[in-house]
Amino acid sequence: MSEIQKLEFKNMAPGQGEAVQDLVLQSVEATQENGFTPQGRAAFQRYAAAIESRRVMGYSHELVYVCGILAGMIELKGPDRISMLYIHPDYANKGLGSRLIARAASRCAEMEPKARHLTVYATDNSINFYERVGFARSGSRKENGGIFSTLYKLSLKAKSTIPSAKLHGTPVEIFVFTGTGNSLLAAQTIAETLRQEGLPVHLRTMDEACPRTLSSECSIGLIFPIACASTYPAVWRFVQSMPAGEGREVFMAATCGGFTAGMQGPLRKILTEKGYEPIAAKAFVMPGNYNNKTLPVDRNEARVKKALLEARSFACDLLKGGLEWGGGIPVLSGFFHWLAQTRKPWNLFYKIFPISVDREKCVRCKRCADNCPAGALTLDPENYPVMNPALCQSCQRCVGFCPAGALHVPGKPAEPYRAMSYEEFKGAFK
Ligand SMILES: Cc1cc2nc3c(=O)[nH]c(=O)nc-3n(C[C@H](O)[C@H](O)[C@H](O)COP(=O)(O)O)c2cc1C
Repeated sequence: MSEIQKLEFKNMAPGQGEAVQDLVLQSVEATQENGFTPQGRAAFQRYAAAIESRRVMGYSHELVYVCGILAGMIELKGPDRISMLYIHPDYANKGLGSRLIARAASRCAEMEPKARHLTVYATDNSINFYERVGFARSGSRKENGGIFSTLYKLSLKAKSTIPSAKLHGTPVEIFVFTGTGNSLLAAQTIAETLRQEGLPVHLRTMDEACPRTLSSECSIGLIFPIACASTYPAVWRFVQSMPAGEGREVFMAATCGGFTAGMQGPLRKILTEKGYEPIAAKAFVMPGNYNNKTLPVDRNEARVKKALLEARSFACDLLKGGLEWGGGIPVLSGFFHWLAQTRKPWNLFYKIFPISVDREKCVRCKRCADNCPAGALTLDPENYPVMNPALCQSCQRCVGFCPAGALHVPGKPAEPYRAMSYEEFKGAFK
């Protein structure tokens, strides 16, 4: 089986107990589980035969299908105790177990914010697997009814991370917001690397609303700048406009000057609630694009070089798994998420760094108005741009790509930054 195939996750439906029991027994048979005495093996078979009645009692069961074929199952007692996890031998070692764990950890963290751990009594043969996906031993090996097991825990709170899952869904639809090109450069590098690994990738702009329908097999990338320790309202609006996730994998990459306040946490929450499966989040430090008195050319070049190397390795790791999507800095990330959706910070940014049009320099090319993602720039009857400060998000796109330096900050020696030419910016989404 190739690594990239159609996966579907579904809750076990009434009457499916027998099929799931078969899968469990075949899996145990294939692994020649050595933590069972003969008495334990019989007890386990009885336990497996009672899956349907445990469903009725309130245990939850999530099943994974590969191209429509039942390939694995996880059973949870309450939100935080794994009581069974089995993958059919034909689909072993394909990352399905870690996907089921990642989804269970994510659901548990969202549904039960007070839960500190996901726990499991790991039988001898499964210990390597649980250790590989981040569980730590938490008790001694014990025997119960002929079955030997050891308590293992996966911390949900310490880093609040979603553990190793890899990108399976194709095509990869990468949606990008960029003010001055840094995020687009990172997105292009990630797209190119994934294509080199054989994945079809489409680069799309967040300036347009998210398509209402996405292919059921695709995975999603969201790439954007950090602003106000969060991101621009245009990006949040795009995220809100995304259709139901239906289990699609999603990763995010942000470019920043160095301070994110863990904005990936609130984003993860929204995406999880929409039904996406967050698999990886990363921020890359890029040149600052705001209020540069003079551009630190050497430092900027070094930052871009480093960030693009990191972006390349991030893309490779997306296919290997092992990346994380952290939960953000408690309180702080939520505060900035709230703040970024009000006008307060954007009004303040504009006050500190107002944008004016120098009509002497303006060549009336309309670029600024055509590309303003916030609709803050319009044209007067003579085609000179007019700024509406109440809508501006200070993303610096108009300043960065003005061919004549006509958009400027009055009274401040602020050198505009852009990571690429206007033609490269426009050509990226054709
Ligand atoms: C208005 C504004 C606010 C910003 N706020 C932050 C911030 O809070 N933290 C940070 O690390 N970088 C911040 N930055 C820097 C940008 O995130 C960084 O330069 C980014 O790479 C720009 O991406 P882009 O070229 O795709 O627009 C801010 C930039 C602007 C213009």
